[in-house]
Amino acid sequence: MYNPSYSPYVPASEPCIKAAASPRFHQLHSEDDDAVRTEIERGLRADRPSISPKYLYDELGSNLFTAITQLPEYYPTRCEREIVERHATEIARHVGPVRSLIDLGAGDCAKAERLFPYLAPAQYVPVDISVEYLRQAVDRLGARYTELDLVAVGTDFFETLSLPPDVGETERLFFYPGSSIGNLAPDHAAGLLKRIREACAGGGLLIGVDLVKSRALLEPAYDDPLGVTAAFNLNTLRHANRIIDADFDVAQWSHVAFYNEAQARIEMHLQAETDLTVTWPRGQRSFARGQRIHTENSYKYWPSTFKAMLERAGFHNVRYWTDEREWFALFGARA
Ligand code: AVI
Repeated sequence: MYNPSYSPYVPASEPCIKAAASPRFHQLHSEDDDAVRTEIERGLRADRPSISPKYLYDELGSNLFTAITQLPEYYPTRCEREIVERHATEIARHVGPVRSLIDLGAGDCAKAERLFPYLAPAQYVPVDISVEYLRQAVDRLGARYTELDLVAVGTDFFETLSLPPDVGETERLFFYPGSSIGNLAPDHAAGLLKRIREACAGGGLLIGVDLVKSRALLEPAYDDPLGVTAAFNLNTLRHANRIIDADFDVAQWSHVAFYNEAQARIEMHLQAETDLTVTWPRGQRSFARGQRIHTENSYKYWPSTFKAMLERAGFHNVRYWTDEREWFALFGARA
């Protein structure tokens, strides 16, 4: 999960490889603070103001997202778990054999761990923006799976999928669960799928995708009555305050989430509840009451549309499994 506040473990120019020992940790990405500030400032000044969804995930934001996954209204996490529980053997047969399991956005590594008994990988490669974020989970796995070669990689996989040389090059399975692909615009999602296919080297992909469904089911999942998603969204303003030293007052803003049926996406925005001006050292921006900052899209797919997207990216043998209500799909494909 994205977390720009953690400091890099090893500078990008000096990948850390301890040949034999496991786990090994590589930090390939280092944050350019000025680029991050500029990105946020540019988004705030735009005619249609926005803040990238990656700024939802500071430490509190990551914890709030974990809380969201436990809400009765937020179905994707439970649906995906149900699919794995019901179909793991068949999924493993379709995407295997697997030597290196490469887990994109691994976080606490729990989703991949559920697949270990079925996929039996020799190597597990959790990838996240920061290896520090992976450290606890990887140390826990190392104690539990003593035969497993563990290689944790801190990289921005939206930018690059080049992996350290000790990641196996045969029988790779990329695992991208949780429907995070839906947070990318379809053209960016298509680009990422193509890069994954190129990095697969004849292996495969297992990816979670949220499916199109009724507004009545979708909207409460992104605007829950407890206000956890609202807190998750509003926290972006506190995160932005820290990064660009701005003076957003969270109390002047409210969470807005709705299903844009024409685009098949949930949109999250922050709405000014009064006329206000936000200032930061390098600029300022006035917002009229009712004006919004766009913070996230969450695209929903028809199975046929996503299958076609995988095929356009060069994958074949595309199959998918759904939960009983057909709300969510796990796609398996060969590169
Ligand atoms: C991480 N991602 C798949 C979540 C989603 O459903 O789009 C992020 C999220 N936003 C609001 N609630 C959850």
